Amino acid sequence: MSKLPAISPRVFSGMQPTGALHLGNYLGALVQWVKMQDTHECIYCVVDMHAITQARSVWGGPEELRNAIRMSTAAYMAAGVDTKKSIIFNQSQVAAHAELAWVFNCIARMGWLNRMTQFKEKAGKDRENASTGLFIYPNLMAADILTYRATHVPVGEDQKQHLELARDIAQKFNNDFHDEIVAEGFADGDFFPLCEPVITGPATRVMSLRDGSRKMSKSEPSEMSRINLTDDADAISNKVRKARTDPDALPSEPKGLEGRPEAQNLVGIYAALSGTTPEAVLKDFGGAQFGKFKPALADLAVEKIGPIGAEMNRLLGDPAEIDRILADGSARAREIAAPVIDTVKDIVGLLRT
Ligand code: TYM
Repeated sequence: MSKLPAISPRVFSGMQPTGALHLGNYLGALVQWVKMQDTHECIYCVVDMHAITQARSVWGGPEELRNAIRMSTAAYMAAGVDTKKSIIFNQSQVAAHAELAWVFNCIARMGWLNRMTQFKEKAGKDRENASTGLFIYPNLMAADILTYRATHVPVGEDQKQHLELARDIAQKFNNDFHDEIVAEGFADGDFFPLCEPVITGPATRVMSLRDGSRKMSKSEPSEMSRINLTDDADAISNKVRKARTDPDALPSEPKGLEGRPEAQNLVGIYAALSGTTPEAVLKDFGGAQFGKFKPALADLAVEKIGPIGAEMNRLLGDPAEIDRILADGSARAREIAAPVIDTVKDIVGLLRT
């Protein structure tokens, strides 16, 4: 019989350490991560094993990867994740993720993974040349979450399909091993929870500053398309002022933003950075030209994002301390993960002697 406690609310989320984190990562996920620390037990992961699913040219090489892991850790902390309240660690230091991912590779169906739109986007036209890791990446992501039997996952809109897959995997595991799960003492047969995506706020999908139809992303070649958390005040201000817009004034209601993706994006960013809603922003700026709105947005972005970059630089000045934080977080994460992966092995019949 398993000694695991019943499922209780727990938050898990992660980001890939490939290049600098940007405004989309911050508004889509990090802001929510910080908030949830006050109400939940939270585990935040630097998903370094996910980073290597892409070509080496994307993540650089071992030295770049190590630096990027430290940089992501610094970004989490600079944005407000508090290691006294929450766990921060890097994925590869907790072997249970890879072990559970293998079990999930045997649970998830080819057809499910074939439907993943992110694989199609990332693999592009040359599917035959994508790594097999990239294809089964969503199984590892499900394992990240379910290694801790986490119930809530704060992410941006683009992760929704992956989280639906995580729910399908949890459900199929619970069904396939129903009798064994009950025998382990989980009377209702729910060993894994069906995690809830937490996708909220006015900026769950931040778009490129150069093209309102494309997501803000690390892989976009133009630096002007995104605000990095490491950008200084001049860079932030310059990128906002040069952001693509249309020639019309701002409408007085969100309805008027339809068909105006760039305007909609900038209003959403303003709302998210100021902790209000697009309605409230348009109450203040309805009728204004971008010549007035952009400087206000630039000032706000500098005020909110500027200090994060400065704090990241301070933290990165002491890499040994960052490594110590990751070692401590990994030890805490391993403690939660160990009885879960042990119970999974017992349920499946992977003999432990
Ligand atoms: P990643 O590293 O691409 O992005 C990290 C987080 O940032 C969000 N995000 C955005 N939100 C709004 N607008 C954008 N333009 C934008 N770009 C990125 C993402 O939605 C995400 O929340 N597969 C995940 C990492 C992952 C994970 C997990 C997440 C691995 N295991 C377990 C949650 C739980 C990814 O590649 O995110």
